[in-house]
Formats: sequence, C-alpha cells, structure tokens
Amino acid sequence: MDYSNLRTTDPTVADLIQKETDRQRNGLVMIPSENHASVAVLEAMGSALSNKYAEGYPGKRYYTGNQYVDQVEQLAIDRAKQLFGAPHVNVQPNAGSGANLAIYLALLKPGDTVMGLKLDQGGHLTHGHPVNVSGQLYRFIQYGVRKDTQRIDLDEVRAIAKKEKPKMIVTGATAYPRIFDFKAFKEICDEAGALLLADISHFVGLCLSGDHPHPLPHADVVMTTTHKTLRGPRSAIILTNEKHAKAIDRAVFPGTQGGPMEHIIAAKAVCFAEAMTPEFKAYAHQIGLNAQALAAALLAEGITLVSGGTDNHLMLIDCNPLGITGRTGSEALAACGIYTNRNTIPFDQGSAFEPTGIRLGTPALTTRGMGTKEMEIIGRTIAAVLKQPADEATLTQAQKTVRELADAFPLYPELRA
Ligand SMILES: Cc1ncc(COP(=O)(O)O)c(C=O)c1O
Repeated sequence: MDYSNLRTTDPTVADLIQKETDRQRNGLVMIPSENHASVAVLEAMGSALSNKYAEGYPGKRYYTGNQYVDQVEQLAIDRAKQLFGAPHVNVQPNAGSGANLAIYLALLKPGDTVMGLKLDQGGHLTHGHPVNVSGQLYRFIQYGVRKDTQRIDLDEVRAIAKKEKPKMIVTGATAYPRIFDFKAFKEICDEAGALLLADISHFVGLCLSGDHPHPLPHADVVMTTTHKTLRGPRSAIILTNEKHAKAIDRAVFPGTQGGPMEHIIAAKAVCFAEAMTPEFKAYAHQIGLNAQALAAALLAEGITLVSGGTDNHLMLIDCNPLGITGRTGSEALAACGIYTNRNTIPFDQGSAFEPTGIRLGTPALTTRGMGTKEMEIIGRTIAAVLKQPADEATLTQAQKTVRELADAFPLYPELRA
C-alpha cells in the first residue's frame, strides 16, 4: 500500500494518514483496546468490496450481484465458527456497541431486568450505563468488585441475581484486569433463570490461546469486537447457538443495521484465518506474559495497580498515591510517546472525565515483537514519568527510550503514504 493515488487526489488526507502511521510507528501504543492489524487486513478493508450493497444474508439478499460478497461473508462465517467452536455466527455487526444492542433487542423486552458490571469498576457503557441506550431501555442492576480485593465477588453476583431474577447477566469488561469465570457465572444464571452474555471484546485473543477461560459452551451469546486482542478490522461479531440464531440475525439486520460492510467482513475473514495459526496462539500467550512482566516492573517501582496486578492483557494504575490525576499521568506519558488512557478505578473519588486511574496494556507492543525484557524497560520508564511528570530531564530520557524501542521493533515498513 503506497497510497500513490490518494497522494495525487488528496494530498491533505494522504499527509494526515502518513502522520498518524508515523505516530503509531514512533510511539508505544499501550491503550489496551488498540492493536496494529496486519497489512493484509488493512488491504482487505481498503478494497472495492466497500462499493457493494448486500442487505440480507448470504443467499438471501435484496440486491443483485452478490456472487462474490456472498462467498466472502460465508467464508468469514465458516472461519469464525471453526475458530471459536460456535454453532452460529453473525459477522455483520459494524461495532461492539451496536452488536450488544442487537443482542438485547433479540433476547430482551424493554424494561426487562439485566445485570452488568459497573462502569467505574470495569464495565462498558453498553452494559447498562444510564447515558447509554442499554441503561435507558432496560432495567440494569449493576454488580461490582469488592473494596478489599478489587475483584468481582461472585457471592454478591449470586445474591443480586437471586433477588432481582434478571433475564440476562452481562459478563466481560473494558477495564477489569482479572479473569471472568464463565462456568461460575453460568451456574448463577441457571439458578436465576437468566441468559448469559459474554462480552469478550477485550480478552478474546487470550480465550483463543487458552490464557483466559473460553466462554463456550457456557454463554448463550458471545460478543466480541475484532480489533482489540483479535487484531482484525474495527468491527464485531456475535456467536450463539441454534436456539437464538434467528433472533440474533434478525436483530442485526434489519433490527439495528442496514447493508453490511462487506470490505470489513472480508478483513474479518482474513483476521480469523490469521487467528487460526500457531503464530497467533503464541502471540496471544505472549500478550499475557508481557502484561505480567509489565505489572511486575511497575510494582517493583512502587506503583499501585488495581487488584494488585493482572491476569490478562491490561492493568490499571491507581494514581492516588502518586498525587496526580489520570489525565496528568496519561498526558505526560503521551508527551513521551507512550499512549495510555485515563480511566476510572474502583470507588474512584474523581469523575468519569477526571478519573484517578490510567489503563494500559500489552497487545499492540506484543504485535511489534516486544517481549518481557522490553516490558521491564517500559515499566521503569512509565514509573519514572508518573513520579515526576513535570521534570524535563525525566521526560527527555523517556522520549529517548521510546524512540530506541520503536526503532528496534519497526512497525509497518511497507506503509508509506
Ligand atoms: C467490553 C466492550 N464491549 C463493547 C465495546 C464497544 O465496541 P465499539 O467501540 O466497537 O462500539 C467495547 C469497546 O471498547 C468494549 O471494551
């Protein structure tokens, strides 16, 4: 991909693409929901499949000329079924938020009681936050983490489920550094007569490598985005069983979406093929090893981590002992080329906009080939910056370290806009 046509037609956009590619290349992307998809995935996304309207499903479309996109979509479905061992897969959701909405539309009625993890304790907006349509259409009861362990308390989940009799329990998170025991959640669901939704968007790669419990066969429905640890295009898929297949398909189209993005579906097919390789398994396993090494390095420097560490790909730094906010810390790190995000931590005294935590993880750095040795260096560098976020010499040294690491682990050498 040399972007030569784009540079001729629209040098302004080409220039911005070049600058963003260079930002990723020259920095360290540690936002745990981000990754660097392969050039093959990027090429599929940038293809003429984008031009095709294909409302409906393979073999059942409303438009003509679907002979190739039908094959593309069926390939993506077949590969996803094989990859996850799922009886039914819908590959059309454009994003995780819409996919969760489609799941609720398929399996719930407005006003139904649902349980989800609190937003400030790791849950996603679509898990029932009042500002999201999920929290407005359904009666969400939120479960949380224990104050002492900062981990989900399954006894509390069971007690709430017993009392509230939810129609569905949503598991999975956007900022929770520990594992979800899907088998235990399923037992609670069975006792309460609830469906189990596993939103594995963040740690899906680790489910595939065996480093996190797999949601199947326990969950009735599984949703995952495809751009985080799965390292595919920005998108999502829904896995389910034969019982809910029709309702899920109808809720995606025509329930919540129009024509599917066949170019993105092609890129998902590519990503599923990549994820079936032994190399991907090794990659996803390394994400976890790197997270362990990074957490250990931060703890050794006296940094406080929510729940004391991590079992997955991400961790949350508690900035309170450092006397800084999440914004101050993440912006100081970004000034050095280390990209993280400010995030609420359990029982945060700040707000969603001005929280006292920083969320970071290892998926993108692991894609670049970095290992535990690099994580130790990065952990020490992050700790130094957070301890002295306004110290010029510290920031200059961190910038130098970042540049050396970025140069030693080159990203996208074939992309030159
Ligand atoms: C757990 C979880 N679910 C759903 C989503 C929503 O995905 P999207 O941003 O594609 O709408 C996210 C994204 O951060 C997520 O972390």
